[in-house]
Amino acid sequence: MCACAVVLGLQWGDEGKGKVVDLVAQHADAVVRFQGGHNAGHTLVVKNEKFILHLIPSGILHDGVQCFLGQGVVISPDALRGEIMELESRLGPIRDRISIHPACSIILPSHIELDLAREHAKGATKIGTTGKGIGPTYEDKYARRGIRIGDLFDWEQCTSKVRDLVAYHNFLLESYYSTKTVDIHGVEDQLQQFRQFVEPMVRDTTQALRDLRDSGKSIVLEGAQGALLDIDLGSFPYVTSSHTSIGGAITGSGLPPQSIDQVLGIAKAYTTRVGNGPFPTEQSNEIGKLMHSRGAEKGATTGRDRRCGWLDLVALKSAVKVNGVTELCLTKLDVLDGFESVMVCTEYKQDGDGSSSGYSSKTDLSRVSACYTKLSGWYESTHNLTEFAALPKNAKKYLEFIENCIGVPIKMVSTGPSRAATITDRV
Ligand code: IMP
Repeated sequence: MCACAVVLGLQWGDEGKGKVVDLVAQHADAVVRFQGGHNAGHTLVVKNEKFILHLIPSGILHDGVQCFLGQGVVISPDALRGEIMELESRLGPIRDRISIHPACSIILPSHIELDLAREHAKGATKIGTTGKGIGPTYEDKYARRGIRIGDLFDWEQCTSKVRDLVAYHNFLLESYYSTKTVDIHGVEDQLQQFRQFVEPMVRDTTQALRDLRDSGKSIVLEGAQGALLDIDLGSFPYVTSSHTSIGGAITGSGLPPQSIDQVLGIAKAYTTRVGNGPFPTEQSNEIGKLMHSRGAEKGATTGRDRRCGWLDLVALKSAVKVNGVTELCLTKLDVLDGFESVMVCTEYKQDGDGSSSGYSSKTDLSRVSACYTKLSGWYESTHNLTEFAALPKNAKKYLEFIENCIGVPIKMVSTGPSRAATITDRV
């Protein structure tokens, strides 16, 4: 286990990062969330018990692991409190293992209303957000009018900022979107209660992480969403509002780039996407339906059906390069069991002139068609396998094909939801 590892999703989120972070966290001293909010949903199965984490880092399931929410995270008071209470009802006290940076932005009820009103107004062109207020909260952060956790501790100034902000939101809600407004007194009450709840967990996480790093402790930085949802590097405008890529790990945690020893990229053995936006390898057919049912492809946060398709190596290769990925973990390999052949997208062709194209943030994915390489499938079950040698020959060939194409080794393969169903003996 490296001293500082970043775990990043390399597709459109839902790659199974939670399980991988949970696995690497057993050897770690600290796990850090650095961006996003409770739009994320990490599902973990531990000893047949299912946990769905949204804000709290996956390290919480290991006793003694410190969990950090860095300054790049946006926090819903209700979501944070609800998740901590739910986890404490199952795990016992955990608050002494959670640290939250005072610069984290707060998601207000009016951010949620704005998120929903905007999506509604967009109609057919909506992004398909999770409706958790993430976008409007980041907007206010960048407009430098957002409320941060640290603001709660100067109550007089805080209430004045909150009143101004909610008045602005209500103006937009009422006059522009013609929808219901938010009661300012309700917001103030919510924040006042939250202040008491959160105070014992607030500290300078940047300094604490640097101290841990300097004393040789091991840290895992846990990404949420995936590379193709990055606000700058993803499939804009169908993206989330944070930096899901490696840059976000640095600014959102405060750790310097030199402290990162390993970038572990996570990709599903096929591709899924939840929400709207182009998806070149999507299979709106029996193949997609099979992936959906076998992979239980429903969003952990919104319960929406995930769209499914073949592995897109063009986009994956770009995500590996952009993020400086040093090794890959391929998840849900078992979902591909039983296909006579498996397709991988190895090239995009531009619609119109038919020219070949790679993926970058300037690629308009709605104007490319996927070109595939056909590989032989395997009928044997890979479900719950834990040794590379036990994999069917064609499954091994599938992994080798991916490695050759993207240029980094696949060090881990996940073959089922449980912690144990993982191949880690690959050399
Ligand atoms: P937002 O993050 O709620 O603003 O949603 C923006 C886009 O990101 C939508 O397409 C969402 O479906 C997608 N998204 C946000 N969080 C996740 C996630 O954790 N997994 C997969 N997609 C996500």
